[in-house]
Amino acid sequence: MILFNDQLIRREEARVDIEDRGYQFGDGIYEVVSVYEGKIFRLEEHLQRLSYCAGEIGIELPTSLEVLITNLYKLIEVNQLVNGQIYFQVTRGYAPRNHPFPAQPKPVLTGYVTRKPRPLELMKTGVKAITLDDIRWLRCDIKSLNLLGSVLAKQKAIEQGAFEALLHRNGKVTEGSSTNLFMIKDGKIQTHPLGNLILGGITRIVILELAGQKNIPVIEEPFSLKELYAADEVFVCSTTSEVMPIITIDGNPVGNGSVGPLTRKLQELMEEMLF
Ligand code: PDD
Repeated sequence: MILFNDQLIRREEARVDIEDRGYQFGDGIYEVVSVYEGKIFRLEEHLQRLSYCAGEIGIELPTSLEVLITNLYKLIEVNQLVNGQIYFQVTRGYAPRNHPFPAQPKPVLTGYVTRKPRPLELMKTGVKAITLDDIRWLRCDIKSLNLLGSVLAKQKAIEQGAFEALLHRNGKVTEGSSTNLFMIKDGKIQTHPLGNLILGGITRIVILELAGQKNIPVIEEPFSLKELYAADEVFVCSTTSEVMPIITIDGNPVGNGSVGPLTRKLQELMEEMLF
């Protein structure tokens, strides 16, 4: 069963018009949430971000957040989801193809569950990354359905045997193609500040909270590719990747080329929050 606006229906019954603006223009927004033991992790923050993004592009959500919360939990229940994810998106809906917003938009919300296992093995061993020019638009704070820049970057990473592409604008590192990026140098954690150049990740919030609780110094300032290469530890984070250690960048080892102690510590601290 899937969520279609405020209804739970069978996937085969769902109907999206070929002129849906999400389909034609990428005119919409989305969220990915993780479900651990039947509970949605940090749902409030995800919905706050959804509301923010909807506001930024002038989409009115088809249901209230209260109704959406109820429906997301119904979706979990009817699908008997214990551990997994929910993907949901809102488009500006159907209208005859024309760039300006339709006079009376009818936004369309769709949501469904997925059951990807947590990437525990990769989290243990660490993964490879490459660096690439950040060719995305200048409103990366909006979780837009327009993901072509991210898709092309991720594809390049995969073709080179890497897990993630770490993006930079004129040598200043922003984030991963679908993750936020942290580096650690001399016991301090550094990540790009919020703003229009990165997505305000929910996992990023969690990491900053955990670092704060443990008195690990955090710097929210941009850093250069050169600094990234010289880091002691590097990790990316997201809802689906959690805390994912990066052990090589462009073929060069990060630190001594294995998962570092602070990254491991943050993984452990996050694990404690999940169950
Ligand atoms: N990606 N930065 C970008 C560009 C992202 O697409 C994501 C999430 C993040 C991390 O955000 P969060 O911690 O809220 O998941 C950062 C999702 C998971 C995706 O597109 O599948």
